[in-house]
Amino acid sequence: MTNFFAKKLTVLAFLVVAASAFAMTDQQRAELEERIKPAGQVCMEGDSSCGSASAAGSAGSGKSAEEIYNTSCMACHTTGAAGAPKIGDAAAWEERLGKGIEEVYANAINGINGMPPKGTCMSCSDDEIKATVDYIVENSK
Ligand code: HEC
Repeated sequence: MTNFFAKKLTVLAFLVVAASAFAMTDQQRAELEERIKPAGQVCMEGDSSCGSASAAGSAGSGKSAEEIYNTSCMACHTTGAAGAPKIGDAAAWEERLGKGIEEVYANAINGINGMPPKGTCMSCSDDEIKATVDYIVENSK
């Protein structure tokens, strides 16, 4: 009889030790995650100083819509060169948007007539081009 209880106690003791061992690893894991965390949080979206991290999300230029406009689209869309609808020309953009914003996005990404694909910003992701179209539309009301 005593032998039986002794065995049970041994099992119990083992379980307690095992449980605390697991608690230790959980604790260690938490500490490890805590130490790793800041590295992943350094790069904010749209921060061009850490291209690799933002590119991991959606391979792109890492530039803001305004920056993309000023570097890739302005030459034509500020002057109206080659018949480009000018930024700020509300009537021209309203007419273009008549066919639906998705179509306008697609034409900006794939190109149409004098409009080169992605406005020549080949490092821009589709989403960045869409954001730049939104920027133009926002500034043409
Ligand atoms: C080389 C000159 C040029 C550059 C650079 C350029 N565009 Fe264009 N874009 C045009 C012309 C020309 C049109 C009119 C095409 C047509 O409908 O015949 C146009 C049309 C558009 C349209 C309207 C499409 C539609 O469906 O009506 C959008 C949106 C647009 N451009 C966005 C951009 C963006 C964003 C950039 C920069 C990333 C850019 N463009 C750069 C010349 C340019």
